[in-house]
Amino acid sequence: MDSFVIEGGNPLIGTIEVASAKNAVLPIIAATILTDEEVIINKVPNISDVDKMLKILSLMGAKAMREEDKVIINTSNISRLEIPSDIAKEIRSSIFMLGPLLAKYKKARVAYPGGCDIGSRPIDLHLAGLSELGVNINEDYGFIDCDAKNMHSGVVHLDFPSVGATENLLMSAVFLKGKTTILNSAKEPEIVDLADFINSLGGKVYGAGTSTITIEGVDRLSGAEYTPIPDRIIAGTYLIGAAMTRGKVRLENAKFEDVYALLSKLRSAGCNIDYDANSIYIENSKRLLACPSIETQPYPGFPTDLQAQILAMQTISDGISVITENLFETRFKHVPELLKMGAKVTTKDRMAIVRGVSRLHGAEIVASDLRGGAGLVLAGLVAKGQTIVRNVSYIDRGYERLEDSLSCLGADIKRV
Ligand code: EPZ
Repeated sequence: MDSFVIEGGNPLIGTIEVASAKNAVLPIIAATILTDEEVIINKVPNISDVDKMLKILSLMGAKAMREEDKVIINTSNISRLEIPSDIAKEIRSSIFMLGPLLAKYKKARVAYPGGCDIGSRPIDLHLAGLSELGVNINEDYGFIDCDAKNMHSGVVHLDFPSVGATENLLMSAVFLKGKTTILNSAKEPEIVDLADFINSLGGKVYGAGTSTITIEGVDRLSGAEYTPIPDRIIAGTYLIGAAMTRGKVRLENAKFEDVYALLSKLRSAGCNIDYDANSIYIENSKRLLACPSIETQPYPGFPTDLQAQILAMQTISDGISVITENLFETRFKHVPELLKMGAKVTTKDRMAIVRGVSRLHGAEIVASDLRGGAGLVLAGLVAKGQTIVRNVSYIDRGYERLEDSLSCLGADIKRV
C-alpha cells in the first residue's frame, strides 16, 4: 500500500474545486438499476469505491464505463441478480443495490456489506423496512436472499434515521403501486440528491430532506444526464486544513448549507469565513481556540465523517475539547496515531477529551479507515518535521489524489 510523506508547516493557500459527493454518487450508481435506458453521471470523482460499484454492475451484466469525469451506465442487460460477495464485502454501498434489484426484478441475493471498520455496521434497519413492505428475507452463510413478489406499498418507520436504510427503502418503493411512506427518514443532502436523481428519471419521490419521505409508484423510469451535489465532507476536510495551517482557501462548487455545522465551529475557533451560493472562503492567521464540545449527529448536526478531521484540529487548538461520537461505536482509531505525534487525547467509549498543544511533531503513522486517514494527513500538514502516513489506500476510497489537491494549495506532500 502507498504512503504519503509530508513536511509540515506550509499554509494552505489558493482556490480548489470540490468534486461530486462520494456518498451521493454511490447510491445514484445503484439507482441506475431502476431504468433500462442510458444514464450519464457527470463530475464523478476517480475514487476506488466508485470503481468497485461500477465493477459490481459490470459483473452483473450491465454496461458501466468511465469517460474522463463522466460515468455512462446502461443496466438493461443485467443477467445476474447476485452481488459478487468478494467485492460486496469491501464496500458498504454494495447494500444499496438491494432496493433497486427488488424494485426492478423482485428478487436479489446479496452478501453482508463491508466498509470502513468504524463499527459493526449492521443492516437490520434495511431488512426490517423491506420485510414491513412484504419482502421475504432469508439469511444464510453471510448471504441475504430476498423475494419481493408479494412486495406492497405501505408505511415504514425507521428506529434510527439511517442514511443507507433510507436510501435502500426509497429505491425499493419506486414502482410499488400506491404511496409508500418512510417515517424518521435520514435528512442528509445525499438523500435529497438521490431523490432528485430518481425524479429526473420520472420518479415521484417527495419530502426528501425531511424526516418523512413519500414515494408514489410509477410504471417505469427513463434515462437522464445528472450532476450530483458537491462532496461536503471533502469541502469540510479542506476547510479544516486551511484553518489548522493558518491559510487562505476558496472552495468552488461548495454549498455552505451542507457544512453549516462545521462553519459555525470554525468561526467560534477564530476563523474568518465568507460564502455565496456556490463557494466558501476561509482564512485564519492565528492559533485556533478549542471548540469546548463537539457532538456528531445525523444531518443537520455535526457530521460523523468530519469527526476525525476536527479532532486533529483540536489537538493544536488553545484549550480543551470534548468530542462525542454518537454515530459509530469505534471511530477513534486515528487517536493512537495522533498520540505518536505528541497529541494529548484521552478516549473512553464514544468520548474523546483533547488538550491542545502548541505544536505536533512528525511521526510514522498508519491510516486504518477513510476519514481517520484524512485526519492524520491534516495533522501531518501542521506537525514539525516529516510525517509518513501509511496505508493511504483507505484515503483513496473517498479522496481523488488528495496529495495533488493539497500540493496545489501549497502543502509539501508526496505519494511513495
Ligand atoms: C452512510 O453510511 C455513509 N456512507 C457514511 O459515510 C456515513 O458516516 C453514515 O452514512 C452516517 O452519515 C455512505 O453513504 C456510503 P447509517 P451508512 O446507516 O448508511 C446504525 C464515509 O466515510 N445502523 O446512517 O452505513 C449504524 O451502525 C462513510 O464516507 C443500524 O444500527 O450509515 C450506525 O451506528 C463512513 N442498523 C448508524 O446507524 C442499520 O440497518 C448510522 O448508520 C443501519 C445503520
